[in-house]
Amino acid sequence: MPPKQRDSWASRLGIIMAVAGSAIGLGNFLRFPAKAAANGGGAFMIPYLVALLLLGLPLMWVEWTLGRYGGGFEHGTAPGIFHSLWRKNRFIKYFGVIGIFGPLVIFLYYAYIASWTLGYSVYSLTGTISTISDQSTMQNFLHGYQGIESNQFFRSIWPSYLFFLITFGINFWVIFHGIKGGVERICRIAVPILFGCALILMIRVVTLGTPNPEHPTWNILNGFGFLWNPDFNALKSGKIWIEAAGQIFFTLSVGIGVILTYASYLSKGDDVTLSGLSATSMNEFAEIILGSSIIIPAAFVFFGPDNIQSIATSGVYNLGFVTMPLILNQLPLAGLFGFIWFFLLFLAGITSSISLVQPAIAFLEDEFDITRKKAVIFFGIFAFILCHFPVFLLNNGVVDELDFWGGTFFLVVFATIEVILFAWVFGIDKAWDEMHRGADLRVPKIYKFIIKYITPLFLLTILSVWMWQEWIPVILMKNVQAADRPFVLGTRIVLVVLLTVLAIGVKIVWSRREAKGANDAA
Ligand code: ALA
Repeated sequence: MPPKQRDSWASRLGIIMAVAGSAIGLGNFLRFPAKAAANGGGAFMIPYLVALLLLGLPLMWVEWTLGRYGGGFEHGTAPGIFHSLWRKNRFIKYFGVIGIFGPLVIFLYYAYIASWTLGYSVYSLTGTISTISDQSTMQNFLHGYQGIESNQFFRSIWPSYLFFLITFGINFWVIFHGIKGGVERICRIAVPILFGCALILMIRVVTLGTPNPEHPTWNILNGFGFLWNPDFNALKSGKIWIEAAGQIFFTLSVGIGVILTYASYLSKGDDVTLSGLSATSMNEFAEIILGSSIIIPAAFVFFGPDNIQSIATSGVYNLGFVTMPLILNQLPLAGLFGFIWFFLLFLAGITSSISLVQPAIAFLEDEFDITRKKAVIFFGIFAFILCHFPVFLLNNGVVDELDFWGGTFFLVVFATIEVILFAWVFGIDKAWDEMHRGADLRVPKIYKFIIKYITPLFLLTILSVWMWQEWIPVILMKNVQAADRPFVLGTRIVLVVLLTVLAIGVKIVWSRREAKGANDAA
């Protein structure tokens, strides 16, 4: 049999768009403004920018470099990549399992939430959402849609389930068409449209002026002031630093494993430094400029300073699916603007969720040597079954639990392992040369020092502080309502089983390889 050809990117712009598409997601337009508003307004930007420069950007370069390096050995996921970096260590490949586990766990709930945005896009166009003018009815609509209650809008979860099926299908359809033919093609179209939608909304919001003449102080300038006026006292709390670092991980998609996989489809001499920086800059533009100029300033001018704090902290679902449509409904062309908002979220969501599917597919293709079609079918069925947990147990703490382990805790663990392997095991000098192979940009020397010392120390500090403050309450489910505890425990059991299955998968692959090596030698 001829050796299997790994897929590749068709162009440099293609991979930059794909990584930017992965990074720009619900995190930019919902999570970021909510976090900034809840954590000291403008003061949040200080730890945020520190985390961007000391964690986000270095990890972006580390992941692009490691991914490209691993791809050279036909490994597109962390078990193989880690093994290539440290061949003498028999255990390191098992740590790489996190780089497949994390994206899978995030995908399970992310795809479902992305599917709401599709449903809401359609209900905006049909005019159903634009007829709702008060908060409690909008909340009913959301709860009906989520299947939490049966009401005048929805009798069951099935309409929402249909949109979930469509969204799930789109993800696997794109992945089935491969890196060039699927991911790259979609991202090259979706990312510019997404920017267009965000720009339209931003312009609409900044031109709102003072829509409520009874309250002249509820104007757009004060709206921006609410978000950006710094409360420097907030900087004294450890929480703001951890929240800012968490946001950087989530928004850039670093520490997950997806960038490793995308970069593994590069060729040896392709640039990673300038491309990594470009993808990061696109994400930051979408986050700091566009993301922060839409929902919070708009909520301020309509709901005023007394309500904005509670709105900002009311959670991502409320912000995106209750507050924002209510605001848009007060404007002319409500249905159209509602559609633009939800379609923007849908495009942002889908270009991120496809990147979460790819690591598992790459693992099956590269390590088990099966065709993409088989990998898509096998993993599709597996993920489809697991997705039913968040879909049907949304209200029982399952999504929060998945988000905590897959979308928060393991990101920091994985990033710590990556950067230590890169700078200390592979060796910073060799790693630096590897990073600059074919580079169009020389990274300032200071980053050699940052990647070797500061980034690992920063990560280890975050982990230690977290362990110190939160480990026991989290393990004992202290912050989980009593009624949800069986569901949360069940979710944890499923997660442990998943990790074990993946580790067994790695064991099988390497045992086979060793046996083959022994046979070939004999
Ligand atoms: N990076 C993606 C987001 O921001 C996961 O939503």
